[in-house]
Amino acid sequence: IMILLLLSGCGTRVIDGQQVDKKDKIIIKFSHVVEENTPKGLAAIRFANLVRERSKGIIEVQAFPNSQLFKDGEEFEALSRGDVQMIAPTTSKVAQLFPQWQIWDLPYLFDDLDSVHQIMDGPLGKTLLDQLHQKNMKGLAMWDNGFKHLTNNDHPITKPGDLKGLTFRIMSQGILEEQFHSFGAATLYLPFNDVYQSLEEGRAQGQENTISNIYTKNFDQVQSYLTLSQHGFMGYAVMVNEDFWNQLPAQARELLEETMAEVTQWERDIAQKLNEEQLRELQKRNQIKIYTLNNEERNIWQEDFALVYAKFAQKCGTDFLNDVKESLE
Ligand code: LMR
Repeated sequence: IMILLLLSGCGTRVIDGQQVDKKDKIIIKFSHVVEENTPKGLAAIRFANLVRERSKGIIEVQAFPNSQLFKDGEEFEALSRGDVQMIAPTTSKVAQLFPQWQIWDLPYLFDDLDSVHQIMDGPLGKTLLDQLHQKNMKGLAMWDNGFKHLTNNDHPITKPGDLKGLTFRIMSQGILEEQFHSFGAATLYLPFNDVYQSLEEGRAQGQENTISNIYTKNFDQVQSYLTLSQHGFMGYAVMVNEDFWNQLPAQARELLEETMAEVTQWERDIAQKLNEEQLRELQKRNQIKIYTLNNEERNIWQEDFALVYAKFAQKCGTDFLNDVKESLE
């Protein structure tokens, strides 16, 4: 692939080991909103390193973490304008454009990560990724973070009724709103970058996130309680601007696709490990009181989310939900 790349319009004067001419380079700006020490952050760096090595520096992926370039909410437009070439928003944020993506937000639909991967890697996952074409985006992969948990102030949460009266920050509207509203909680729709401050100022009393995001953003400094509810999945759609993608040499696309597939497998492992490790770190830091829902309690939560499922069916039809449920059986 490397040699073909060199001969295919990326600069014939470049030879192995020599400085790559600037004009021959393919630059891919990869913008995301989380810390580097997270599944997405580390996978972005690994992808950049492997692509640089394998293309001998011809393709340079530049990862910009922490909303340095764009906050979520701005990322889609930045991708469409060509200000960045690659983003990896949560599936929930993709759902703002394509409502069926809210399937990933349905509480307790997926028992474990294997069930999540079964859908991601199967025909239904492909159907979802293919929808991105409608907005001139190409989905390259789906990455994990993990299951979300609840953090909040005021009082500990063990049962759904405990949510009442609290305001929770949500990362997208629709099903996630419904999830909190159905238990009498209010919601505040905010970009990830603004969450810490909103919790500190008390504009929101709680939020839902993976351990990795809770730990790396130090939410335990501004939240008293963590309920390990594992109520919803949070993953990412890694995507590029489709016009940009189509004008790349075929060999470059191949190299990027192959490397992405490899990094995706690696990312899944690291996501699980990081979430486990960082939970231990949170326990060690001992700033937040941690409560784990037992199976019985979890069953109660699950039953009480029936309204949320009804809302999904109303918005996206029952067929898609039934297909997903059948595939999971
Ligand atoms: C959030 O907004 O809570 C998450 O989307 C952040 C992320 O990208 O993991």
